[in-house]
Amino acid sequence: MLLTLENINTYYGLSHILQGVSLEVDSREIVTLVGRNGAGKTTTLKSILGIAPISSGRIRFQDTDISALPTHSIIQKGIAYVPEDRRIIPGLTVRENLKLALMKSKNRDREEEMIDRVAQYFPILKDRLKQEGTSLSGGEQQMLAIARALVTDPEIMLIDEPTEGLMPLLVETIAEIIQTIHSNGVTVLLVEQNMEMALSISHRAYVIDEGRIQTSGDARAILNDEEIACKYLAV
Ligand SMILES: Nc1ncnc2c1ncn2[C@@H]1O[C@H](COP(=O)(O)OP(=O)(O)OP(=O)(O)O)[C@@H](O)[C@H]1O
Ligand SMILES: [Mg+2]
Repeated sequence: MLLTLENINTYYGLSHILQGVSLEVDSREIVTLVGRNGAGKTTTLKSILGIAPISSGRIRFQDTDISALPTHSIIQKGIAYVPEDRRIIPGLTVRENLKLALMKSKNRDREEEMIDRVAQYFPILKDRLKQEGTSLSGGEQQMLAIARALVTDPEIMLIDEPTEGLMPLLVETIAEIIQTIHSNGVTVLLVEQNMEMALSISHRAYVIDEGRIQTSGDARAILNDEEIACKYLAV
């Protein structure tokens, strides 16, 4: 397994949010984590990254226990994060946003090569390198957020609700981009509320509710199951 979460527990203050979450992602998989608002999806990603430190359990990446590592070390091992709120840095151009991500990665000396790579994936960003990142449209900002993760050459990308608030055509574009990234060798752990999108690109799925994994399996079986949808996914 590339990434394994074993019985992790995560608190925010006194609130016990993740209550024994276990999941695994194999190399070259696209795995989706689904669940209603407040179920613990983002907290799971933040726990992997050490942003929301776990209080017990174990997280392994490749053959290393990363449970107690600081976030920057986890990222340097090849885990990239595309946060739900995109977090484009105000006042910086598109290029500067990408450069900032590069500075913290092993690719810091390969700026032009990485910008070229971004341009291949996202021609629209190539034309906007000098534009302020926060002036981009919602869809373009999502592309920039994904591009920022991509330039670090990750083994795995943790992508939190990339299609939230986007119109259907852009949802399709984002789905295609994730598939291209995957076909170039990157493993993906996706959080998605858009079942159709998740189903169209995932191999396996986990359902989380109230901080616990309720069920998991083949993406088609999970995401097409009406009983599961009714019990765990209805808001
Ligand atoms: N910083 C925080 N401090 C305290 N509680 C928090 C914090 N962040 C999240 N929570 C709580 O933890 C629980 C899980 O939140 P989380 O953000 O992981 O849910 P989610 O599944 O990502 O939901 P959504 O679909 O709305 O993004 C919720 O009850 C939320 O209110
Ligand atoms: Mg969330």
